[in-house]
This record gives sequence, C-alpha cells and structure tokens, in this order.
Amino acid sequence: MNIEYLLTATRSARKSIDLDAPVDSRDIRDCLRVAFQAPNGSNQQSWRWLVVADPVIRTRIAALYRDAYLQLTGGQLVADMLEGKTPFGRLMSSTEWLVENLAKVPLLVIPCYEPYLTRTEGGDSFYQATLYGSIFPAVWNFQLALHTRGYGTCVTTLHLHREKEIRDLLGIPESYVQGCLLPVGRLRAGHTFRPAGRRPLEEVIAVDSWDGPPV
Ligand SMILES: Cc1cc2nc3c(=O)[nH]c(=O)nc-3n(C[C@H](O)[C@H](O)[C@H](O)COP(=O)(O)O)c2cc1C
Repeated sequence: MNIEYLLTATRSARKSIDLDAPVDSRDIRDCLRVAFQAPNGSNQQSWRWLVVADPVIRTRIAALYRDAYLQLTGGQLVADMLEGKTPFGRLMSSTEWLVENLAKVPLLVIPCYEPYLTRTEGGDSFYQATLYGSIFPAVWNFQLALHTRGYGTCVTTLHLHREKEIRDLLGIPESYVQGCLLPVGRLRAGHTFRPAGRRPLEEVIAVDSWDGPPV
C-alpha cells in the first residue's frame, strides 16, 4: 500500500467491519508487533494490551458501552432523528451502529498503560501528555498495520464512562489506565477508504506566534 495513501486514508471503521469474517490471530499478533515499535515515554513500555475474543465478555463490555452512550444522550438513540444527511448525522449513525453491534465485532482490544509518574511529580499536563502520548502512537501504528492487512478499527473512549466496571470485569490492576477500546475485524470485501475532509491548513497552522501567518 502506498504510504501517503495509508497515512491519509486510514479511517475509523465501524459499519465497514465484517462481523461474520473470522480474524486470524497471527495477523493481530503481527499488527501488535508493529504497534509496539511506537515511541513511548522513556521507553518504559509499561503497557498491557487486552485482546478480548470471548463472546460472553464482549457482550458484557458492549452492554457497558451502550449504557455509557445512552447516559450521554439522555437515554435515547439520536441518529434516526439526524437522518444521516449531514456529516454529523452520518457520524452519529456510525457511532450508534457500533453501540448496537459492538458485541458482534470479533475482537475488542484495550491498550492499558501503567504511568510511571505520579501526578505530583509533574504538572497535570506533563503527566497526561506522557501517559496518553505513550499509548496513542502505538494505537495509530496498530490501526495502520491493521489497514494494510485488510482489517479495520476505530478509536473509542465511550467505555471509559464505565471504567471501573470494565476494570473489574477484565481484572485490570488499579495502577493501569485504559487508553481506549478498539473494535477490530476484517473490512468488508471490496471496502476501501478515502482521505477525509479536514479543516484547511491556513486555519490551523501559524508561524512564529499564535496570530502568525500559515506556513
Ligand atoms: C480520542 C478519540 C476518541 C474517540 N471516541 C470514539 C467513541 O467513543 N466512539 C466512536 O464511535 N468513535 C470514536 N472516535 C472516532 C472519531 O469519531 C473519528 O476518529 C472522527 O470522527 C474522525 O473520523 P476518521 O477517524 O474516520 O477520520 C474517537 C476518536 C478519537 C481520536
């Protein structure tokens, strides 16, 4: 796969995941090997990635995910009201599809990380940047590696509204933080992604100072 295409067209996969296609654990292992080449604070690598395949556990995680989503929306699914006509409507339709189908996605991957700093050692921003900056480069490597092998995933964080319940369910020690939840499956046959619409460069880049000109 062309590198520029891979970097610009690796999209969040939700409806494009084939719920019936089996996942090859050797592929997932390979993608995780690529993931772990990512930079992380002081090269501590204090991560543990939980790969949940058991359908009973997936169903319980999916129920917590749904519960968290409905709490945020005041107890209702909203995508139908938005009719999928606007970009936001389409996003909500995909988001809710995942809410309804998470249990059927073949693998749920949860990257966990044990921060080696305590909040008092650095300011909060330093702590957060070092912690999440040690998780998400590996997550992105994982996403890219999956894409090259015909798999798809999507960063999700909604389950963190039920962080403790997920911790208890999976036996995650108190000292570890859950970075996100990645539903993983093969992409539907023939499915391809395109570069997405993003804000124009001149809106988001400034040279030398906040109000400086774009590059
Ligand atoms: C930190 C983060 C949290 C996200 N949380 C969720 C989530 O809980 N549920 C979901 O369906 N998508 C989630 N997403 C996916 C975003 O909606 C998606 O990345 C965004 O709409 C851009 O689309 P693209 O990834 O296809 O370019 C999350 C993405 C990021 C980076």
